[in-house]
Amino acid sequence: MFFKKNQLKERKKRKVVLVTGASSGLGLAIAKQLILDDLYFVVMTSRSTSSVRFDDEFILKNKNIWIRELDIIDHSQITEVIDEINSAHGGVDILINNAGISERSTVEDSDDSGRQRQLDVNYLAPLELIAQTLPTMRKKKYGRIINISSAGGFMAMPTMSAYSASKFALEAASESLWYEMKPWGINITLIIPGFINSLGYLNTTDSINSKLSSRNSKSAYYEHYRGMRALVARSMVGTRATNQGIAFKISKVLCCKNPPLRVYITFEAQLFYWMRKLMPPGLYHYILYIFLPNIKAWGKNKYQTNNSKP
Ligand SMILES: NC(=O)c1ccc[n+]([C@@H]2O[C@H](COP(=O)([O-])OP(=O)(O)OC[C@H]3O[C@@H](n4cnc5c(N)ncnc54)[C@H](OP(=O)(O)O)[C@@H]3O)[C@@H](O)[C@H]2O)c1
Repeated sequence: MFFKKNQLKERKKRKVVLVTGASSGLGLAIAKQLILDDLYFVVMTSRSTSSVRFDDEFILKNKNIWIRELDIIDHSQITEVIDEINSAHGGVDILINNAGISERSTVEDSDDSGRQRQLDVNYLAPLELIAQTLPTMRKKKYGRIINISSAGGFMAMPTMSAYSASKFALEAASESLWYEMKPWGINITLIIPGFINSLGYLNTTDSINSKLSSRNSKSAYYEHYRGMRALVARSMVGTRATNQGIAFKISKVLCCKNPPLRVYITFEAQLFYWMRKLMPPGLYHYILYIFLPNIKAWGKNKYQTNNSKP
């Protein structure tokens, strides 16, 4: 009886955190950090195809960890997981919308399905998760929502239009939410990394046409892809920001009483934020343009697009 009472007390003390895309990359690092902090009940979620990675990482469910399957674009799966948490723990206290995807494509090479996929995962699904967790947060007058955005959420680079659009959308919705939730004391924070030293760039996919253009040295966008692919790979391997470092900073944000709406969490994100803020827009865009990789070769191919005639 005493044991049960103590267990109940401990469970009451621990904030319930739900992390999406927790089987790899930043999501895994965040979940590991929170487990290490030993202050939380951590619900690690991932798509069913990826949950095997938890075994590889020796992460096992225990009294303070749940592992659940959650493909965030499946709204019925979101409802299932949230309902289970509501019944067992009275709701999610801290939601960490981490899962995200990126597709490399120029606007002309992109297609509706790729644009939609990125909006679905990076914008619509986080909003659905938020909508489903807010009722219990409002009831408790407590809640933290951490949305993992990107420097791509305030600046857009070539070949990443749909990714940036989805993160810009996430930032806009988070800002609205910040005002809407203030009366209930629910905090919304956008975590904004620049590049992260990881192999995450290998998960960036291509549209059908960007794949073709990348392979055809005569295509109009060949140099765009060649340059941007190399730039991103170089930047991600070269930066000092790591998943672990960012996860640590996020755990500190969770301890803040009044965290800011936007946290520019890496050096590059801060640098670009200040450049954009301080420079006249024309100059800012011009400087970024002239420093694009091998920019002199862009636009020189005679083919209009990968599939069209010269
Ligand atoms: N890496 C960077 O340099 C960087 C920079 C700025 C912002 N970010 C942001 O940081 C977040 C984490 O990225 P990362 O670098 O850790 O990339 P990552 O290693 O590719 O991890 C992305 C995670 O999202 C999951 N995911 C994708 N689609 C999903 C879906 N439909 N349902 C559930 N989970 C899904 C993936 O699961 P699967 O393994 O099943 O695919 C994976 O666990 C993203 O929001 C990203 O936009 C990353």
